[in-house]
Order: sequence, then structure tokens, then C-alpha cells
Amino acid sequence: MNRQSAPHSMIQAPSGAGITEGYMPGFGNDFETEALPGALPEGMNSPQKCNYGLYGEQLSGTAFTDVRPERTWCYRIRPSVKHSGRYNRIDLPYWKSAPHIPEDVTSLGQYRWDPVPHTDQDLTWLTGMRTMTTAGDVNTQVGMASHIYLVTASMKDAYFFSADSELLVVPQEGRLRFCTELGIIDVEPQDIAILPRGLVYRVEVLEGPARGFVCENYGAKFELPGRGPIGANCMANPRDFKAPVAAFEDREVPSTLTIKWCGQFHETDLGHSPLDVVAWHGNYAPLKYDLKTYCPVGAILFDHPDPSIFTVLTAPSGQPGVANIDFVLFRERWMVAEDTFRPPWYHKNIMSELMGNIYGQYDAKPKGFVPGGMSLHNMMLPHGPDKNAFEGASNAELEPHKLDNTMSFMFETRFPQHLTLFAAQEAPLQDDYIDCWTDIEKKFDGTPGKK
Ligand SMILES: [Fe+2]
Repeated sequence: MNRQSAPHSMIQAPSGAGITEGYMPGFGNDFETEALPGALPEGMNSPQKCNYGLYGEQLSGTAFTDVRPERTWCYRIRPSVKHSGRYNRIDLPYWKSAPHIPEDVTSLGQYRWDPVPHTDQDLTWLTGMRTMTTAGDVNTQVGMASHIYLVTASMKDAYFFSADSELLVVPQEGRLRFCTELGIIDVEPQDIAILPRGLVYRVEVLEGPARGFVCENYGAKFELPGRGPIGANCMANPRDFKAPVAAFEDREVPSTLTIKWCGQFHETDLGHSPLDVVAWHGNYAPLKYDLKTYCPVGAILFDHPDPSIFTVLTAPSGQPGVANIDFVLFRERWMVAEDTFRPPWYHKNIMSELMGNIYGQYDAKPKGFVPGGMSLHNMMLPHGPDKNAFEGASNAELEPHKLDNTMSFMFETRFPQHLTLFAAQEAPLQDDYIDCWTDIEKKFDGTPGKK
């Protein structure tokens, strides 16, 4: 397998007050950063002439009239229209968009997969993306897709943006660098990255092979969940999110820009790097977040709360309390509830739950759900602990117990998730997953008080 060090050729802003290691802390802040002194206009957005001969340009992530506009002003070597030419449609056969409901594929069921293995192929961020499920409709900007990425090769003079979606990246193996228009983000397992719709970037392999999960969000951007009675602290704290400082390339070489647009892929040729933003300010920016900084809140006397208590990020659907997508984290934590069945209870859910294992062992499924693996419990399909997990938790001494060495997550959406052909036929689907509940016994015989 490839093991590469990526060239670090971008010019980056110097560190300064409030800036650490090339990142600025905060979620949704109005950031400002410049890679050259004086590149950012003072006190206005659109001066008659920008310093250094730069072009001013706004990147709008929300409608101009949105009640909470998200936009970023970029000061760049060329305006983005110079990064756009005639488009040629190309095919990336493993990257699918909703609606995508293949014939002869049954999405009704409880499914689980072993990790999708690497191959000897050189695969980039684009050619290594493998869609597992799609939900909703990319053209009406509702729903999502889930993907596995298998990346062994850096993109060379090649760039990408998705007009369709915001990408939430959850690495499970290897290290990646996202060289974006707005700066550099490095991620490794236990980090996540959020790449906004429309942001141009190139992906380099810092340490490969790299594998991970992607939630492609067709709808409104991810935001921090409303905290309600939990109050201002714990869960994901805003200052633990990091936006990159400005970085740019002034490189005139033949380059290719690929655009994902309405589920199709198109390519255009450029004579230069489009990563030419020298300075920017605004609240529409890529972010990284270290999942180890997530502070879980849970049951401290009895019962098992809904998993929504572990929500890291939520993408609203327009209906209050009903998410287009919730990103939920199950990490190390103490279990202390008294007289309580402590693992997740049996349930059916109108939402569709796609889970991935980053590392360790998940408490409801001690076997079979392994790091790099995924499971899908689709709309209104029952699931819960397997027999061993049920018997173990029903008979355990309820001392305080640390769930250690565990980090799994869930992409939960209000829409049913449809399997791709890849998920149903090529990925390592566990045909016997449904059997994990076969041994569960009938214990009822009419005797009251029976345990
Ligand atoms: Fe569930």
C-alpha cells in the first residue's frame, strides 16, 4: 500500500494571537485571516481596489435573505469565474446520489458490514469514494448519502467541489490533508472534518492507506444542537472546532477541477491552481473537530436516555426537532445507573440509523460490529442488543463501570436509506447479521416476578 508524505506548498498565515497550529477556534464565528499582511480590507468588504491586486468575492452558503446568513468574503488572485470553463461530464460509478433505488436490491432489513478492504488500486478522494446508502433527493436538497472512502493516492493538480452537499468526514484509518480555498485541514482517526458546499479543495494522503466514513448532507448545514435543559456546557463545545488560517497557491500548471452538481460529475480544465485565496473573513468555512473533546452527558441514577443525548451536530430539516441528519457519538463513558438495563434498549425508530465503528467495541454488539464496519437499521425496523449483550447486561453486578476503548457514531436521518449495488453486492455484507437475535429466548410463562 502507498505511504506518502504530501508536499506542503501552500503559503500559510503566520501564527498569531488566538491562532494555534494554523487553526482558529470556534463554531460559526466570524473569522478573519490573511496569509499576506494587509491583504484583508479594513472596515469594508469591497474596496474600489483590493491590496496586492486581489479580487474580492463572496461565497454564499445561505440565501442572501436568510435570517442567519452564512457567507465568506475571499480576496483572491483570480475570481472564481477564472476557475470555471466548459464542462465535460465524467463518470464516477461508485459515487451515487439520491434518489437512487437499484432494482433487485432490498433495503428493507437490518444490515451490517465488515470493513470494506483496500485494494492494490491507486484511489483518490474521488475515485475511492464508495456510496453505501442514499436518502432523500439531491435535487430538492433534502436527505443524505453515506459513503466509505478508500484513499491511497493524493490528487495531483486536481481539485474538487460539491455543489450538492456539505461533507462530514469521519476518518477511521490513515491521515488526510484537505488543502482548501480557505486553508489547510489535517485529519486522522478521532477527528472529523466539515467541508461546506461549494468549497474547492484537493485531498492529499499524509499517511495511507486511508479509510473512513462520509456523510454527504444535501440539506441545511450542520449546526450545534440546541442544548435546552443541558445548559451551556458539555457535549461539543464551540471552541473545540477549528477553522484553518488562510493559505494559498500561486501556481500556473495545467489543472483539473471536478464538480459534483445534481448528482452528476463534470470536469473543467484550468491553467492554474484554484486555491488562490490570500485572505478571507466570514462564518462559512471548513472546520475540524477532535471527537476526544466531546463531553458526554448521561444517566447518573437510573434508566437509559435516548441516544440523541450524544448528538455532536445536527442538520435541521425545517421541522423543529426533526433532523435531516443527526451526527451522534458513542464514546468512552461511565455507566452508573442503578437497577437499570444499561445498554441501548430494543426499539423501532421512524428515523433511519446508519452506524460506523471508529475503534473498539460497541456495548450493544460485543461481537461482529468491528472497527471500520458499518450497520444499518432502517426506518421502523426493530433492533437492539444481541442475546449475549442482553443476558450479560440483565445479570451484571451494577457497579460503576467504565465503557472503555469504544468510539462509534451514527448518521441518523428522517428519510429511509436505500442501499447501493455496491453495498448490497460488493461490500462485505454479513449475511448472518439478522441471526444475532435468533437465540433470544421467550422467558414469559405467566409467573409474576420472574426475572
Ligand atoms: Fe437504534
